[in-house]
Amino acid sequence: MAGTLKNLNVLMCGTGEYTTGWTGSGASKSDKKIGVVALTLFDLRRLGKVDQLGMVGVNGSKFPAIRQHLDENIGNVYKDFDLSFDAFPDENKVDPEAYKEAIDKLAAGDAVIIFTPDSTHYPIAIYAIERGIHVLVTKPATQLLSHHNALIEAAKKHNVVCFVEHHKRYDPVYSDAKARAKTLGEFNFFNSWMSQPKSQLETFRAWAGKDSDISYYLSSHHIDICCWILQDIAVPTRVVASAAAGIATSEPYNCVPQTEDTITLLVDWQSIKSSKHRGTAVYTASWTAPLKAGVHTLQHWYYMGEKGDINIDQAHRGYDLTFDDTGKSWVNPFYMKYSPSESGHFDGQRGYGYISIEKFVDAARSVNAGLSQPSDYDAHGLPTIANTVLTTAILNAGRISLDEKRPVGIKRDGDQWILE
Ligand SMILES: NC(=O)c1ccc[n+]([C@@H]2O[C@H](COP(=O)([O-])OP(=O)(O)OC[C@H]3O[C@@H](n4cnc5c(N)ncnc54)[C@H](O)[C@@H]3O)[C@@H](O)[C@H]2O)c1
Repeated sequence: MAGTLKNLNVLMCGTGEYTTGWTGSGASKSDKKIGVVALTLFDLRRLGKVDQLGMVGVNGSKFPAIRQHLDENIGNVYKDFDLSFDAFPDENKVDPEAYKEAIDKLAAGDAVIIFTPDSTHYPIAIYAIERGIHVLVTKPATQLLSHHNALIEAAKKHNVVCFVEHHKRYDPVYSDAKARAKTLGEFNFFNSWMSQPKSQLETFRAWAGKDSDISYYLSSHHIDICCWILQDIAVPTRVVASAAAGIATSEPYNCVPQTEDTITLLVDWQSIKSSKHRGTAVYTASWTAPLKAGVHTLQHWYYMGEKGDINIDQAHRGYDLTFDDTGKSWVNPFYMKYSPSESGHFDGQRGYGYISIEKFVDAARSVNAGLSQPSDYDAHGLPTIANTVLTTAILNAGRISLDEKRPVGIKRDGDQWILE
C-alpha cells in the first residue's frame, strides 16, 4: 500500500568544496564558496523534505573548522536554517573507512550523497546500495565500466534509487537543446570544449594525474550531455584518445610525470535506426587554460544533425560584470543563486545545482512511500545509474586508449556494455 511521504535522512560523504565549500586549504576560492550539497540539504530540511543529516570525511579534526565556516557563511546569512549534523569520524580520529561506520548507522530507505575523490565513488556507493540505501554519486560515477555495471546490478537487486549527479541535465539551456536535437534527424557531429585555468593544478595537486585525469573530471559533463541527446539516436562504437602534456609537469606546477594537460577523445557513433548513418564526436577538456579568462570554466559545444545544428556557449550567457579591482567576468546565475530572498531565506531553489539534488531526494521519498519504483526513473530519462552507463564506457575507453596507445571498441554483450 502506498503511504505518505516521509522526510529523508541523508548522509553526505565527503566534506570538501562541493559539499561545504571548505577545502584542505581553507574556504574555497572558486564559484562554490559555500558549497552546494549541505546548503541544499539544509534548505530541503527547512522546506520539510529532509530530516536527519550526517557528514563523513576522513579526518575528524576538520569538523570544528567546517562547522564554524557553515555557521558564519550559511547560518548567519539565511533565516531559519537548522545546521545540525552528525559527523564521522570522531574529532580526534583519521579513518578513510569511516564511511562504513556512518552508513551502518543508517536504515534501509535512507540516502547517501557522495562527493569524494573519483576512485572512492565505487567502494562507497556499493557499500551503501548493498545495505538498501539510496545513492546519489557525483560524476564520474565510476572510473571503470565494470564498476558501473556492478552498481546497475546492485541497485536493481536492492531496489534502491541510484542517480549520478549530472546537474547539467537540469540546465535550462541544455535540456531545451536536448529536446530540439530530437527534431534534427540523424546525428552527424558533436564537438565540446571544457577547461579551467592552470591555477586549478594547485587546487587539485593531491589527485591530479594520480587518482584521476582531466577527461574524467571535466569531459564527463559534456559526454553525458551528448549520450543523453543521442540515447535513442545512436550508440558509441570506438574511442581514440590523444593528450597534450608538458605544462602540468613543469614549473611551477610540477605534477606527477603522467599528468596530461589537455585530453581529447574522438568517438565514432553508429545510428540505431539507419545502418548507413554514422557520426563523430570530439570531447576535449583541459586544466591548463589561461588565467584571468573572465570565467572559471570555459564550456561550449556544437551539435550537427541531419536537418540542422545547435551551438551553445555556456560560459558567456550574455551577462558580464566589470569590477575595478578584478576586471571583467562572466557569471552564471542559473547554477546556484547565493543571494537571499526578500524575506532573508535561501533563494536558490531554481538553480540547476539545487534541482539536481532535490530530484534525487524526491525520487527516494517517493520510492520509500511506495508511490514509484526505482526503474520508473530510467524511463523518465533522468541520470540514473542505468541511463549513464555509456558516459562511463566512453571515459574508461579513453583512459585505456591513452595508457595502451590504441583504439578501444565499445559493444553490447547480452544486457551489458563492455569494452574491447
Ligand atoms: N567541486 C566541484 O565543482 C565539483 C563539481 C562536480 C563534481 N565534483 C566531484 O566531486 C568529487 C570531489 O569532491 P569535491 O569537489 O568536494 O573535492 P574536495 O577535494 O574538496 O573534497 C573531497 C572530500 O572527500 C573526502 N574523502 C576522501 N576520501 C574519502 C573517504 N574514503 N571517505 C569519505 N570521504 C572521503 C575528503 O576528506 C574531502 O572532504 C570529485 O569526484 C569531483 O569530480 C566536484
